[in-house]
Amino acid sequence: MSQQTKDLVEESPAVAAPPSPARLTLDGKEYELPVTVGSEGEVGLDIAKLRAQSGAITLDPGYGNTGACESAITFIDGEAGILRYRGYPIEEIAGQASFTEICYLLIYGQLPNVQELKAFEDRLTYHTMIHEDMKKFFDGFPSSAHPMAMLSSMVVSLSTYYPEDGRGRDLDLTMARLLAKGPTIAAASYKKNIGQPFVYPRNDLSYCSNFLHMMFSVPAEPYNVRPVLDRALNLLLILHADHEQNCSTSTVRMVGSSQANLFASISAGICALWGPLHGGANQAVIEMLGRIQADGGDYKKYVDMAKDKASGFRLMGFGHRVYKNFDPRAKILKQTVDEVLAEIGVNDPLLEIAKSLEEVALHDEFFIERKLYPNVDFYSGIIYRAMGIPTNMFTVLFALGRMPGWIAHWKEMLDDPQTRINRPRQIYTGATQRPFVPVSER
Ligand code: CMC
Repeated sequence: MSQQTKDLVEESPAVAAPPSPARLTLDGKEYELPVTVGSEGEVGLDIAKLRAQSGAITLDPGYGNTGACESAITFIDGEAGILRYRGYPIEEIAGQASFTEICYLLIYGQLPNVQELKAFEDRLTYHTMIHEDMKKFFDGFPSSAHPMAMLSSMVVSLSTYYPEDGRGRDLDLTMARLLAKGPTIAAASYKKNIGQPFVYPRNDLSYCSNFLHMMFSVPAEPYNVRPVLDRALNLLLILHADHEQNCSTSTVRMVGSSQANLFASISAGICALWGPLHGGANQAVIEMLGRIQADGGDYKKYVDMAKDKASGFRLMGFGHRVYKNFDPRAKILKQTVDEVLAEIGVNDPLLEIAKSLEEVALHDEFFIERKLYPNVDFYSGIIYRAMGIPTNMFTVLFALGRMPGWIAHWKEMLDDPQTRINRPRQIYTGATQRPFVPVSER
């Protein structure tokens, strides 16, 4: 719990007992707003009836203060740099768990035992192939197509082959199909880009190794997945697995709230993730570091540019809506990046630029004042690069990692009796009523 939240909870004697309602005065009239307190002490004012009672709505562009749902999946305390999946701290999970265990944990709410994990992994293994006809979709894409566009198109296209909406007894199978076929589609997008034949999945490989096999093997020679790459990918996918109500997850919930099927909802989430302010930042970071390198390595110049609002330039991989001291995922990646690069045997000059940039920015008043720290995307790209993953695939990797989180939220939303179609309001600021003028008189 952050100090701010602790103070709030401690100051309010009502929290121990049922919290007493908050009071809002509007135009001289008082309204009571019920207070909801989460299991970590987060305090929410319930405004669900506010408009019906007062005629007023709340206005919160960017939703910085708006809770859209109650959720039991992921807890973040941005002030304290805490991230927990179903109660388990990310630092403990990161070094010890497999990505498939984390998929199970996020979706089903608890860690699987040995039999449950085996049954789950078997299911993921046996659904990795995509229908042969789906390869024809790839034929239609230009070879220059961005793999995020191919991924989102192919994911929604899965609903043409599996038209059941994923609810009821099909739900487990539909979720498994998506998790299983995601890597196959992602690797095929890369092969399309570089003009190599698609590689079929292999049932004897782990989730991560199978993806690397589909990415990097060719029919002409054998390919053995290096354990260091499997481990690095496992870590990266876990670090991206969920992040509560971020832009893409909120999109999945928004689309799903209309009862759209799982594939359609997740495809929308993939599109939301693509933007450079969200998951697209990992690609943007490497492009920025490359630009600094090509410009003679003068990183201080870029720090100055980021401080100058008129430049329109931002330090990509810096800043976060929720984390205001550090991003625990970035901390883990920073601790890991040297080790992984050394083990892979790569010496990347961009890593030095990144470290110098971070050092300068962390001591600069502009960044300190605004609480801007490196986020998960700052170092992830350097590891992906060392693994041989091309820059335009970085966000696809983010999407594969986030898949279980999106699925877990979609399922939670479905199971929640409070779910209603998401439909925000607005404060209208346009023209007031005016008469229509026919075109001949304008
Ligand atoms: N470089 C320079 N200035 C920045 C940056 C940055 N990266 N990020 C924020 N600022 C400034 C911003 O100009 C503003 O200054 P002022 O208060 O003087 O107007 C202040 O910091 C607050 O910024 P904001 O845009 O209001 O903050 P936000 O919470 O709306 O945006 C953000 C969060 C992540 C979109 C933003 O920090 C950003 O654009 N970062 C770069 C893109 C990036 O790395 N995105 C990945 C996010 S982590 C992965 C994920 O979960 O998606």
